[in-house]
Amino acid sequence: RKPVSLPRLADMHARGEKISMLTAYDATFAAMADAAGIDCLLVGDSLGMVCQGLASTVGVTLDTMRYHTDSVSRGLRRVQGTAWLIADLPFGSYQESREQALRSATVLMQAGAHMVKLEGGGWTTETVRFLVERGIPVCAHLGLTPQTVHALGGYRVQGKGDAGALLKQQAHALQDAGATMLVLEMVPAALAAELTTELKHCATIGIGAGKGTAGQVLVLHDMLGINLGRMPKFVRNFMADASSIGEALAAYVRAVKDGSFPDDQLHAW
Ligand code: KIV
Ligand code: NA
Repeated sequence: RKPVSLPRLADMHARGEKISMLTAYDATFAAMADAAGIDCLLVGDSLGMVCQGLASTVGVTLDTMRYHTDSVSRGLRRVQGTAWLIADLPFGSYQESREQALRSATVLMQAGAHMVKLEGGGWTTETVRFLVERGIPVCAHLGLTPQTVHALGGYRVQGKGDAGALLKQQAHALQDAGATMLVLEMVPAALAAELTTELKHCATIGIGAGKGTAGQVLVLHDMLGINLGRMPKFVRNFMADASSIGEALAAYVRAVKDGSFPDDQLHAW
C-alpha cells in the first residue's frame, strides 16, 4: 500500500469511499491495525482511561501524548506502515493561545504525528487557521467533547434540537479555517449526515453519529470488547465473531468500508 496522505484522504472523501479509523496507543497494536488495512490511526487522549486508568481525559498531559505518539509512530515504521497518524492535543495544551497550540502541536508532530486533533468550536477556529497556515494538518472534534465533560454535565448526546444549528455553524467555520477532518462524537445521525453532505473539504468521522459520515472511528479496546466500564451503545464488539485480533481489526475495516458498521438502529440516536 502507498502511504495514506492528505491528498489521498481528500480523494477518498470525494469518491465517497468510507475512511476507517481506530485509536492506537502502542507499537504492536498500531502495526496490527496497519496490517489490517486501517486508513487512519488516532493516538487519542482516551489513553487516559484505557492505559492510565483515569476517570476522564482531563488528566492527560502533553508529555504522555508525546510518549504514546512516539510508540505508535515507531510501530508503524517497524512494519513500513501506511496509516495516517493523528494525535490528540490534550486538555490545557492549546486553550491558552494559538502560540501555545503551535508549540504543543510541534511536540506531537516531532513525535511522528501527521495531523493533530483538538476539541471544540467557536474559539478554536482561529487556532485551527493558525496551525494549518503553518503546515500542520488539523482534525477538529465537535459534539461530545470529552475534555469538557464537566462543563457538559456528563457523557451525553450533543447537538439535539436548537444546539444542532450552532454545531453546524461551528463545523462550517472550522472547515473554512482549514480543518480537513472533523470527528463528530455522539450527535444525532441526521445532523451528522446533513453536515457530511454540506462539508465538501472536510471529511466527517463519526463515533456514535450514525452511518451518514465520511468515515468512522472507535476506541480500539472497545471494538475488541475490552472495557473496564460500561460499553457505549454505539460500539460493536468485533471480537465476537473473530478468532483473532487481526481478524477483528480486518472485519472492522471491511464493515466501515461496506457501510455495514454502524447500524443505524443499534448504534445511533
Ligand atoms: O481520544 C479518543 O479516543 C477520541 C476518539 C474517540 C475520537 O478522541
Ligand atoms: Na480524544
